[in-house]
Amino acid sequence: MTVKIAIDGPAGAGKSTVAKKLAKLLGFTYIDTGAMYRAITLKVLRENISLEDEERIVEVARKSDISLDGERVFLDGEDVSEEIRKPIISQKVSVVSQIPEVREILVKKQRKIAEGKNVVMDGRDIGTVVLPDAQFKFFLTASLEERARRRYEELKNKGTEVKYEEVLEEIKKRDSLDSGRKTSPLTIPEGAILIDTTDLTEEEVVERVYEAIRKNTKGEI
Ligand code: DC
Repeated sequence: MTVKIAIDGPAGAGKSTVAKKLAKLLGFTYIDTGAMYRAITLKVLRENISLEDEERIVEVARKSDISLDGERVFLDGEDVSEEIRKPIISQKVSVVSQIPEVREILVKKQRKIAEGKNVVMDGRDIGTVVLPDAQFKFFLTASLEERARRRYEELKNKGTEVKYEEVLEEIKKRDSLDSGRKTSPLTIPEGAILIDTTDLTEEEVVERVYEAIRKNTKGEI
């Protein structure tokens, strides 16, 4: 039997950092589903496709080869790991990820990647849609201001020039699009362990998640 760990939550709640560390700790495969939506968005922008042209966006999703190798993301064989983190992608990705057919295509890919493996998968609909049978479901949250502050620091450290207010607005907009969309909106999965990370360090969050897993498996993992 394989073990599936689902980590969901809004932008900036610390999901990917925690998921990566947890995967390393457990020796599991880390799957960043947000990166897949970002890769499709990058291709759509590169090909100058209008964000209103759903048909062509779905076509891009269908024809693109997206693969993950640890923390690296490949789009048709090209390493796009850095490019998909740019603010322009963050601004547009929620539009692309709202399209039901795009979700269908990517959810299928995500399930396939997870098949037969022990995985830690992070996203918005992992515990609800992608891996509803996951043995462990976590939902990470943090205050809007703290999430914006984290994203702002992250971008600043990468040398990207942004204003805190702009990041705050972008996260607010993304929250409303991700939670308000018709297909698989961001919701807390049933049975998920909720962790508010506002006043916790990354290490403390990883510790809590790890402890919850160990407690529920009687230390077998
Ligand atoms: O986690 P992230 O910021 O890299 O995700 C980018 C966007 O992709 C996010 O705004 C919503 C979307 N997304 C999604 O709809 N479903 C997922 N499982 C993961 C991400």
